[in-house]
Amino acid sequence: MTMAKATRSIDDQLAELQEDTGEQHVAVTFTLNAVTQTVLLPSRTLASDAIRHHLRQTGTHVGCEHGVCGACTVLLDGKPVRSCLVLAASLEGREVTTVEGLVEPDGTLHPVQQAFIDCHGLQCGFCTPGFVTTIAAFLEENDSPTREEATDAIAGNLCRCTGYQNIRAAVLRAAEIKRERSGEFPLGKDDESARASLDRKVRGTTNPVGGRAGRA
Ligand code: FES
Ligand code: FES
Repeated sequence: MTMAKATRSIDDQLAELQEDTGEQHVAVTFTLNAVTQTVLLPSRTLASDAIRHHLRQTGTHVGCEHGVCGACTVLLDGKPVRSCLVLAASLEGREVTTVEGLVEPDGTLHPVQQAFIDCHGLQCGFCTPGFVTTIAAFLEENDSPTREEATDAIAGNLCRCTGYQNIRAAVLRAAEIKRERSGEFPLGKDDESARASLDRKVRGTTNPVGGRAGRA
């Protein structure tokens, strides 16, 4: 990957790359985690490879490369897509957000990221970025999901090690955090018994191992 240099025209750079490598290259301008840039890539480059290998946003993981596991999910103009199924060239003019881009500028974790910590929603973490981006998009559409809706929201992503109970709990906890942050959380700060009851409702029968579970 070559970042486009202002001193030589992009066409010249593309021609030179093609001559050097024997491979057709394309110039793609898109926004990745709020930074707009033009990159020159072999035209066959997948979005997942461009993001992860060329632009070093390594939070995006690549598992199956066939659109099955969901590990490579990013937000494309706010919608979840499997980046292993998208050519980098088709990102032209689009806005891509990876798991890194969900963190607030002041370092505050996205509600889904915080919820995965609260509910112990990961073990090895390989699948986690795909779940986090998928759930973040889902909560934009529905910030008060039922357990069934939470289950449906994660049904397309695969996890090999942690099971889905805690991940589903994280969906519900993330919704709670989102509502809390928007000032809609219905409970008073000191209402511990109501909070405990909500924890049980959020976690259901899940019993995460160790540490604080359900609430920060
Ligand atoms: S790596 Fe893209 S869906 Fe599995
Ligand atoms: S936490 Fe390991 S694959 Fe999901």
